[in-house]
Amino acid sequence: MLEKINALREEIASATASGPEEVEQLRIKYLSKKGAVSALMADFRNVPADQKREVGQKINELKTFATEKINGLKDSFAVAEDASLDEIDLTRTATPGVVGTRHPLSIVKNEMLRIFASMGFTIAEGPEIEDDWHVFESLNFPPDHPARDMQDTFFISRNPVDVLLRTHTSSVQTRVMEKTQPPIRIVCPGRVYRNEAISARAHCFFHQVEGLYIDKDVSFADLKQVLLGFARQMFGPETKIRLRPSYFPFTEPSAEMDISCDICGGKGCAFCKGTGWVEILGCGMVDPNVLKACGIDPEVYTGYAFGMGIERITNLKYKVKDLRMFSENDVRFLREFEAAH
Ligand code: PHE
Repeated sequence: MLEKINALREEIASATASGPEEVEQLRIKYLSKKGAVSALMADFRNVPADQKREVGQKINELKTFATEKINGLKDSFAVAEDASLDEIDLTRTATPGVVGTRHPLSIVKNEMLRIFASMGFTIAEGPEIEDDWHVFESLNFPPDHPARDMQDTFFISRNPVDVLLRTHTSSVQTRVMEKTQPPIRIVCPGRVYRNEAISARAHCFFHQVEGLYIDKDVSFADLKQVLLGFARQMFGPETKIRLRPSYFPFTEPSAEMDISCDICGGKGCAFCKGTGWVEILGCGMVDPNVLKACGIDPEVYTGYAFGMGIERITNLKYKVKDLRMFSENDVRFLREFEAAH
């Protein structure tokens, strides 16, 4: 019996086939109900009891061996078939790939830039690693201003000059004013850094769009009109604005702008803390000291500037409650903006 098994094993090992039909014939010959392996099993009852264990094991091994051999032969022809060009259906639609979405901050930034472009502003960009002069000195910050403290600003080195991460994109405005005589009409988008503990309402970096317009006879009324136009395009034609007096070293007079709360329509709700208004930006007329520092004659030219956080505008537009979501890159959050761009 053991000899029979070995002989059959050798026979199967050397079996070949020239096509799938021949493989099928081999399967029938060895593995079907009437095949050679089954015949061995039928003989099994004649095996003396003391050999049953060994013979049974050998037959099982042979069966596995034959199955693997035949499957191997089958696969070799299946591959050959797949590879034949005639079998590939070139008209089938491809499996759709997963397409990413634009980040919500990019969506809102692009929308903001589009609105300002429609009002004649061009885009200017500058470095995130800056020196003290472009971020503070040229912008009329007094030497003891709190923003110049390590508590508020990330310094990279303090020797021989202060090198730091910009805290606002007003530094880009300085760079443009240094090189260009008016008229200047620019918006400066970019990332800025402040030394804040990270929470739902504050982060150590965020993004801004700041604007600057300098020409002859630019007035506060021009500023107000541009900001009203922006607010209505961004938040809807019913949006109202309100300007409150404020202070920035680089503008005089300075103001902060609120828009009517678009959740309650100005009636007062939890979001606007019952006031009907939400703050969105800072603005003002460029201080003559700033123009002078950048080589522009304040006797001839006047200008206005404004600046706002892209996160803040995005929060208002899409009701994002936690600032940290913008930098966590959780795809469930990001996918919510699929329809928005
Ligand atoms: N640079 C100011 C800030 O970062 C914003 C601002 C810009 C205010 C221009 C007034 C004028 O907060």
